[in-house]
Order: sequence, then structure tokens, then C-alpha cells
Amino acid sequence: MDTGAVQRDPAEAGGGQPPLLEASGLKMVYGGRTVLAVQRLAVRPREFIAVVGPSGAGKSTLLRLLALVEKPAAGELWLFGRKVWGGGARAGEKELLQLRRRLALVLQTPVPFRTSVWGNLARVLGWHGQAPGAPESRRRIRQALQAVGLADKAQQAAASLSGGEAQRLAVARALVLQPQLALLDEPTANLDPGNVALVEAGVRSLWLGLGRGRGQGLDPHPGGEQELRPNPCGDPGGATVIMVTHNLFQARRLATRVLFFWDGQLVEDQPVDQFFTAARDPRTQAFLQGKAVF
Ligand SMILES: Nc1ncnc2c1ncn2[C@@H]1O[C@H](COP(=O)(O)OP(=O)(O)OP(=O)(O)O)[C@@H](O)[C@H]1O
Ligand SMILES: [Mg+2]
Repeated sequence: MDTGAVQRDPAEAGGGQPPLLEASGLKMVYGGRTVLAVQRLAVRPREFIAVVGPSGAGKSTLLRLLALVEKPAAGELWLFGRKVWGGGARAGEKELLQLRRRLALVLQTPVPFRTSVWGNLARVLGWHGQAPGAPESRRRIRQALQAVGLADKAQQAAASLSGGEAQRLAVARALVLQPQLALLDEPTANLDPGNVALVEAGVRSLWLGLGRGRGQGLDPHPGGEQELRPNPCGDPGGATVIMVTHNLFQARRLATRVLFFWDGQLVEDQPVDQFFTAARDPRTQAFLQGKAVF
């Protein structure tokens, strides 16, 4: 039975919008080594969070935990107002699946399905319970491809795309799902400036919710998921974005808030302007100045 999850009362948050995501004491251990230990992290709907930090700091590990791909060694995680991990009542397998359907994870190395570009988007929509051939689905697919500049490659085999195009397809796959939470792991690593700009345009569309018709689009959480409604956290207009990047200029361009990880610890958490002008932790300052901190 998956009836164990509890829903947080929005009144607990003082009547305001409750966080979309809340983690406390979140810990990941590999081979006896703690690679991530986050004391507290709360993300509100529609934030755009950049996650930065040296290689090995635990950024991808954090994304995997938040995407519900892996289970933490310890700690509590709330997502969309539901307790996923932690003591007491928590999500069962069926609810985990339903929660995962409300988020999209874009991996650093995309793995397109062996079908056409269009077929890739149709397939993810199908997995999320939408009829891929329905007019609304087709509209969404067209819009997602346009947003990342792939409209003219809809019929091309995805396996034949260039690296930059494949990365844009990965972002389009997230876009077409209209997720509430988008988790992106270095979506522009190793791309040329033209592709960086196109991926960034797609990511901004995700955040802004371009093309989402209020009240007339497909129900993003159809079919037997009524227990997850009403969405306690959110504006259906766009996604909350958490994006790992090594590109500080990109973080500055896109994010509203920046998290800096160092050796598995969240050592700086600031609104974007403060992060770049008034970082508190000496390790952040050293990182921003391009000095080695690891
Ligand atoms: N499945 C695993 N088994 C063992 N160790 C792991 C595993 N996944 C990650 N690690 C280790 O955890 C640490 C954090 O890895 P993670 O991939 O989260 O770093 P990162 O900040 O994303 O680095 P990068 O910027 O290089 O992508 C690293 O030391 C890594 O070797
Ligand atoms: Mg990584």
C-alpha cells in the first residue's frame, strides 16, 4: 500500500506558498565515504537555482537524490508537499513513481532513444500517460522542438544528431513534459557558444513555462493521480529549475539563486547578485576568483 505519505499543511508555512522541495540532514554515502551532507535546503516554486562547485563536490549526487533516482543514506526529503524519505510516514513505490512524473532530469550525457527526434518526444509523453498523437501532444512537441531550434530536424534519427543537437533534444524532452521541477546536470558542458545559447533558450522556456496554455493544455498529472492534486506548491505556468553548471557566467545569466558545494557540503546559498558580489565563505570567494580550492 502506498498510503503512508503525509501531506504538509500549507498553513505550516505561515499561510504562504510552501516550499516545493525541502531537505534536512540529507546524506549520501558511497563505500563508507560521505560524499554529500546537506544540513538544510528549501526551494520555493519558480526559483531558478544554479548549483556550482569543484569537481567531485557532490553536485550530481544531489541531483540524483532530488530526482528520486537514489535513496539517501540518511535525512529527510519533502517534494511537492509530500514526505519522500525520512522517519515516519513516507512515499511508497507507487507514489514515488507519481512524484517522479512531476519532474524531469536532464543528464550531462544525453541518451536519445533509437528513433526520430519527434519520436523521442512522443515516447516520453507516452510514458507520462499522454496520447502522443493527440493534437495537444503534437502542439507540445512542435513547441518544444522550436524552443531548442530543432524544428527542422524532427524526422532525423536521434542517433545521428551532433553532440550539441543531442543535448538540445534532451532539454526538449524535459520541455515537452511540462514538469514542475526540472533538474539539469551541466546541460551545456562542452558545447560551442551557438549551442549554449540554444540550450539556454530551452532552459529559460522550461522556467518561464512558454507555451503552457492555462486551463486548456493537457493535464500534466493525468490518470489515477488525483490524490496528488491539488498541487500544493505551484504555479503551473513554469518549472522550478535546479541546474548544475561549471559556467559562472551562465549561472549569473539564468539563475535567481546560487548554491556552492565544496566537498559534499553546501557552504554558500545566496541570491544570485549577492553570490557574486558578497559571498560569505572564503572557499566561495576563492572559487569565484578562480583559485584552486580542492
Ligand atoms: N556510484 C558511486 N559510487 C562511488 N562513488 C561515487 C558514486 N557516485 C559518485 N561518487 C563519488 O561521489 C563524489 C561526488 O560525485 P559527484 O558526481 O556528485 O560530483 P560532482 O560535483 O557532480 O562532480 P563533477 O563536477 O566532476 O561532475 C565523487 O568523489 C565521486 O567519485
Ligand atoms: Mg557531476
